[in-house]
Parts: sequence; C-alpha cells; structure tokens
Amino acid sequence: MSEKNLQKIAVIGGGVSSEHDISYKSGKGIAANLDPELFESVFLYITREGIWADDTGKELAPTPSLSLAKALEIIAECAAVIPAVHGRHGEDGALAALFELAQIPAVSSPLRAGSLAMDKWVTKLMAAEMGIGGADDLLLSEKLSPETIDIFVEEFEWEGPVVVKPVAEGSSFGVVFVESKADLAEAISSAFQFDDRVIIEEFVGGREVDISVFRDSDGNLRISAPLEIHRDKIFGFDDKYHGEPNFTVPAILTDEQHQRIREIAESMYTILGCIGVARVDCFIREDGEVILNEVNTMPGMTEFSQVPRMYAIEGLSYTDLLTELIAATLEKH
Ligand SMILES: Nc1ncnc2c1ncn2[C@@H]1O[C@H](COP(=O)(O)OP(=O)(O)O)[C@@H](O)[C@H]1O
Ligand SMILES: [Mg+2]
Repeated sequence: MSEKNLQKIAVIGGGVSSEHDISYKSGKGIAANLDPELFESVFLYITREGIWADDTGKELAPTPSLSLAKALEIIAECAAVIPAVHGRHGEDGALAALFELAQIPAVSSPLRAGSLAMDKWVTKLMAAEMGIGGADDLLLSEKLSPETIDIFVEEFEWEGPVVVKPVAEGSSFGVVFVESKADLAEAISSAFQFDDRVIIEEFVGGREVDISVFRDSDGNLRISAPLEIHRDKIFGFDDKYHGEPNFTVPAILTDEQHQRIREIAESMYTILGCIGVARVDCFIREDGEVILNEVNTMPGMTEFSQVPRMYAIEGLSYTDLLTELIAATLEKH
C-alpha cells in the first residue's frame, strides 16, 4: 500500500451560541464526509462555555483564551479550517475574523458577509436595494420592558397574522407565528430573550424554497437545485431537527421562478461578499413573486441538511462538495 499524503483539515463544531448542538452535528457531519483519499480531519469542539476541546471533549486549557491559543496552534498546522459554527460567535463573522487575523485559510464567508447576513433586517435592506422583495416588516430596535411592549401592542395596527423573530438568531429560536393580536406581546417578549432587536413581519403564506451557491476554484458560481420546504405555518426547530423534514428536491418551479431564485441567490451572494457555501432562503408568494427570507453563510451541514441534498441531486456528492469548497479556499490563499 502506498503512503497517502493527506492534507489535514481542522473542523470546528459546537460553540457558545444557542445553536451549539446543531453546530456540533454539522461539524461532525463535515469531518465524517471529507474525502479520506485526500484529507485527514482534525475535529475541535467549542464547549457551551467557550472552551476549546479536542475530539474526545478534553479541554485544551481551563479558560477560553488559553484554550483558544492552544487550538490555534493545532489549526495552524492544518491546510485549512472549516468553522462549522452557526450563529453567534461563529457564522456572524467572529471566527472568520480570527482566521483572517491568524492568516489561516478558512472555508467560510469573511467577517463582513457573516455579520451582514446574520442581521436579518440589514440583509433585507440590501436585498431591497437590489430590487429583491422581502416580507413587510417593522423593527423593534431596542429591548422593551413588558409595560412598553403592552403599549406597543395596543397601538399596533393589526392587519393579519405576523411572524415575530429575533434579528440575529438561527435554527428558528425565538421565531413565533402569531395568529391573533392577543398573542403578540408574548411573542415579542420571547423573541427578546434571544436578541435585543426584534422584527415583526407579515406572515408570508405561499411556498418556502431555498437554494445554495458557492464560488468554485475556477471562479464560477455553482448554484444548486432549489429545495422546497413543506411547512405548517413556520419551519420550526422541531421540524428542522426532531422529525423528518418534508422537502422536495428539486423544487418544482416555473422556469421564470427558477430563473428568479437563481438571480436572487447570485445577487445576495455577491453583494454580501460571501465565500464558501451560502444558503439563500426564499418565499414564493401566492401570486408567484419570489422574495427573500434570509441568507445563511454557515448553513446546516449534516448529511441530512439541505445544502448537501441540494447539490447531491445534481450529481455533486457531499464529499465532492467539501473537496470543491476546500479547493476554492486554498486557491484563494
Ligand atoms: N415572514 C414570514 N412569513 C412566513 N414564515 C416565516 C416568516 N419568517 C420566518 N418564517 C418561517 O420561520 C422559519 C424560521 O425563520 P427564519 O427567519 O428563517 O429564522 P432562522 O434564522 O431561525 O432560520 C422560516 O424557515 C419560515 O418557515
Ligand atoms: Mg431560516
């Protein structure tokens, strides 16, 4: 048997955000699906307290800063790092910034794209500038006391069901469908448990369709097949992770809708400045208009997640997708 010259790839999972468990699963999914003919994975785990640990869960040092320093030594010996950390202190650009400073090739969007896309309100403002629609919304830009919430709700002009959500969260944490005004105050206070800014959006009926995009090492944008999520009201945490999510891949769209969702994916990826894979989540209104919901710069990456499925249906396996993403990152450095 010949000696294989494997490239070491660090994969990070876990993290301090509410999406800790999902980030662990994404990281493990990536580590398990790296091409064994090309790569050797080095899994690092960030505990809920922010302490970096090895694959067995053994903490590298007793504090976040000391363990981070140890982790950086390990990561610096790898060819690249894949920070599979969703949400806060990961996807929001924090880890991208760390690796930019340390000049370590990271398979991820850079700081700017991560932090902009993490902010659902700003993402929609940028989309609007590009002529891409979104749900009508109202921003609560600072934390409100229960009394102020009551006054706000009293004055709120009710026009129909709404969705209340934290501006910067993920995995549907704090996202509540509100059918009647009587339940609005409670939804707002529960969203404020996750963030100090909250948006109230019109509930968009119709369909929910996602699509993914990445730039490959030749500089070409690779747009996946679209995927439809069949949801009851909203695609909640339990639907995402505790059941068998009901997806149709590829989503059945008119040519015009398909073209439009591809354009939206390309525009958002480009104006945000994404690198690596991003998942662009859209709605199709009852009248057929495709609008943007949000952009995920570190989308779920377990083998059951949407992104691997969207590419697999087009013949790019999860393993080959990871190889392409790593090649694109190494090419840039
Ligand atoms: N304005 C809306 N109208 C209808 N459904 C919505 C709306 N906003 C969110 N949802 C539903 O809630 C889910 C989670 O909301 P989303 O904004 O994607 O937050 P997260 O970042 O937690 O995934 C979406 O996948 C969708 O099913
Ligand atoms: Mg979402």
